[in-house]
Amino acid sequence: MDILLWNQILHPYEIAVREIVYKFDRLKTEYQMNGRYCPIEEVSGRVKSISSILDKLHRKEIPIDKMEKKVEDIAGIRIICQFVEDIEQIVELIESREDMKVRTVKDYVKFQKESGYRSFHMIITYRVETLNGPKKIPVEIQIRTMGMDFWATIEHSLQYKYKRDIPEHVRLRLTKAAEAVGALDSEMSAVRSEIMDAQLSSQLLHHMVAEILCALENLYTIAPKREIQKIQDEFYRVYQRKDMNALRKFHRQLDMISQGYRTQKMTNTGGKEPQKYDIT
Ligand code: GTP
Ligand code: MG
Repeated sequence: MDILLWNQILHPYEIAVREIVYKFDRLKTEYQMNGRYCPIEEVSGRVKSISSILDKLHRKEIPIDKMEKKVEDIAGIRIICQFVEDIEQIVELIESREDMKVRTVKDYVKFQKESGYRSFHMIITYRVETLNGPKKIPVEIQIRTMGMDFWATIEHSLQYKYKRDIPEHVRLRLTKAAEAVGALDSEMSAVRSEIMDAQLSSQLLHHMVAEILCALENLYTIAPKREIQKIQDEFYRVYQRKDMNALRKFHRQLDMISQGYRTQKMTNTGGKEPQKYDIT
């Protein structure tokens, strides 16, 4: 098998990974835009390296011509979340999508592996459009909390270091660390609603500030500079209070002012002194 063929084979997997990561990123934005808590913290993806594919074929005694059929993790997506409860939400979200057909699931969250590994795995079928037409390919999606991810990353490095034969004393430490991660995830779940509230409020505040600044920027083209200066100073004062209601009120008033200037511009006062608007 020459390099050119590898590139050809792996290309649809590259497309799938890019598209799926993009789709989950857009979902995150959509949650934020709607002021809703997002169960997805981070999404990443990778196409398995040629050497890892070759190692897996060798380890599992899979003939190279069966590679595409038998190796289901050539395209891999990892979704990291904050809380164990988020995992279920993400699973439901994937199950309800029309562009991702779930083939198999492995619940290592409820049924932890002997190693201590925890994560929810799904193999989905995803359709990509290539120059040679559509192609349905398998994609492995791993969903886990930040704690589970931390453990898996460390354990993976150790497996690499010890060539998959981790010494007993290190294994023992890893088992203890896995228990600690389990306890941490449970503790975090207990304060989930409080953390979610805090994060949502800060998200809403950022969103509101961005909208106000955008409205102020639009005002630059229609209102006199010193008026804008006054409004901006008032905005900084209101912002310091970090009070969402005050900011909301300010935003509404700013909208009315902009509307006033816009109407005024359209009907053109014919040299008259422009009417002034005050934010109170
Ligand atoms: P692989 O041949 O390793 O892909 O395993 P599999 O085909 O039997 O499937 P499984 O669901 O067990 O594992 C899929 C993937 O999950 C692996 O490729 C790893 O990325 C991850 N994984 C599974 N078990 C462990 C583990 O004990 N430690 C770590 N760090 N990762 C694991
Ligand atoms: Mg794998």
